[in-house]
This record gives sequence, C-alpha cells and structure tokens, in this order.
Amino acid sequence: MNKIPVPPLKEVLRLDGMSKLFEQPTHTVNALKNVHCTIYEGEMVAIMGTSGSGKSTLLNMISAIDEPSSGTLYLFSENANDMYKEPNASKFRKEQIGFVFQDFHLLKDLNVEDNIAIPLILNDVPSKEIAIRVEQVMKQLGIYEWRKHRPQQLSGGQKQRVAIARAIIHKPPILLADEPTGALDVNTTNDILKLLTDLQKQGQTVILVTHDPYVATFAGRVLFFHDGQIVDSYQNEQSLADLDIILERFKTISRGDA
Ligand SMILES: Nc1ncnc2c1ncn2[C@@H]1O[C@H](COP(=O)(O)OP(=O)(O)O)[C@@H](O)[C@H]1O
Ligand SMILES: [Mg+2]
Repeated sequence: MNKIPVPPLKEVLRLDGMSKLFEQPTHTVNALKNVHCTIYEGEMVAIMGTSGSGKSTLLNMISAIDEPSSGTLYLFSENANDMYKEPNASKFRKEQIGFVFQDFHLLKDLNVEDNIAIPLILNDVPSKEIAIRVEQVMKQLGIYEWRKHRPQQLSGGQKQRVAIARAIIHKPPILLADEPTGALDVNTTNDILKLLTDLQKQGQTVILVTHDPYVATFAGRVLFFHDGQIVDSYQNEQSLADLDIILERFKTISRGDA
C-alpha cells in the first residue's frame, strides 16, 4: 500500500535543558529544572500544571521577558540565546511574539481599534496599512462593530477578542496565552477556544497555559508541569475520552506522585 508522505515538522521553538533559579535572601527557588521540549509549527500545545509549578516562568523564558539561569533556546532550529540581551529581547518580543493574558491587559483610555493597532505602531508600520489591517482583524474576530468602544464598555469575551486581535495583528510566529479563558464564563470560554483553534488551523503556533482540563482538550498535545519540570505529556485523540484522561493525569501530578 502506498503511504501518503507526511511533510516534516518544522521546529519553531526548542528548549534544551532550561533552568531558572530565583535567588531569595533565605533560599533559592528552582522555578524551572532542566526543561526539554520542542514545539512545532502549527501546533497548539497546552501547558498544564499546579499553581507555582513554573508555567508563567516558562512563558517568560519563551518570550524573553526574563532570561534562564542555564540552558539554550532554539528558534527555528537556531541557537537564540543572544536574544535574551537587549535590544534583541524587545525586538524579538515585538516581532515574533503575540501574548494573550488572562486579564486582557488592554489600555483603558484607548478604544478597540487603537488598542489593536499598538503592535503595528511599535513595528513602524505606515498608518494607512495599519488602518487596513486593524479593520481586517476586527472583522475576522467579530468585533468590528465595537471598534469605537473603550474596554470598560465591553464584556469579558469581547475584551479577550480584542486582546487576541492585538496579539495576532503583527502575524507573530508564536502566540502565547496565559490562562486566556480564566476570567470568562463557560459560553465565552467556548467562543475563545473556537477562535484559538481556528487560528491554529490556519497555521498559527499556539502555546496555551491553563489549569482547566477542559481547555486542554482543545490542544493537540498537553504537557504536564510539576515543580519546575515536565512530568508527563498527552496527545489528544479529539475524542470524549480526552477530558477524563487529562483530568486523571492532572490529579496524579497534583498529588505529586508522577
Ligand atoms: N520573580 C520571581 N522571584 C522569585 N520567585 C519567583 C519569581 N517568579 C516566580 N517565582 C517562583 O517560581 C515558582 C514558579 O512560579 P510561576 O512560574 O509563576 O508558577 P505558575 O505560573 O505555574 O503558577 C514559584 O515558586 C514562584 O513563587
Ligand atoms: Mg502563572
């Protein structure tokens, strides 16, 4: 039987033995301990872990908000550790990273379209092109009719759509989301997850931090974090069994017997 050739997976991001220590006056916190992982183009990966397990620290390493104590970051298969030094870190963040936060982080004095335009302004895109692209992304995410509204006039789901629009407008190869549905009700959570999976189907690489097993079922792959390490992983089968399996594994690591 002829097999259909599978195109090789393109590596977007690889962490090689990454560790992060926080030196405190009385003790040292090992927030990441020798983490190895590879993220491929067009994947949606969920990072699950208990509170304090190192999830946000990991996102900070990936987005060069903070630098590791040891280990190497590879971007598109190339050693990228020099990206941790300024001005490279700021340049990397504004060009390569989209970040969606749990509590939206919108600027309250700017309306929807101005909030969304920020990354393009930072990247010196001409204002005519900004207007076109902002309109396009607002229509794509179903928030065009809210374009003149300020954040406080929007619902939680609308705010998160604006935050996602802002995170993707400069077409970053890596979209990071730290608990993006943590502040939303169930229906709105479903809307936002549908939006993220639609983006992923269009080729967007997404890394999603969550402590909600239901949210993790939307990813292709789940990495389980505990105490600064990846202790387990699960490839979703896109079946009803996924939720129970993820929940079970999460319970196991939360108890600390993984
Ligand atoms: N800037 C910091 N200084 C000292 N300790 C920190 C700092 N950031 C995180 N930590 C510690 O590192 C560990 C991992 O934190 P974090 O990555 O925020 O966990 P999570 O996002 O999984 O809840 C925790 O013990 C936390 O207290
Ligand atoms: Mg966190």
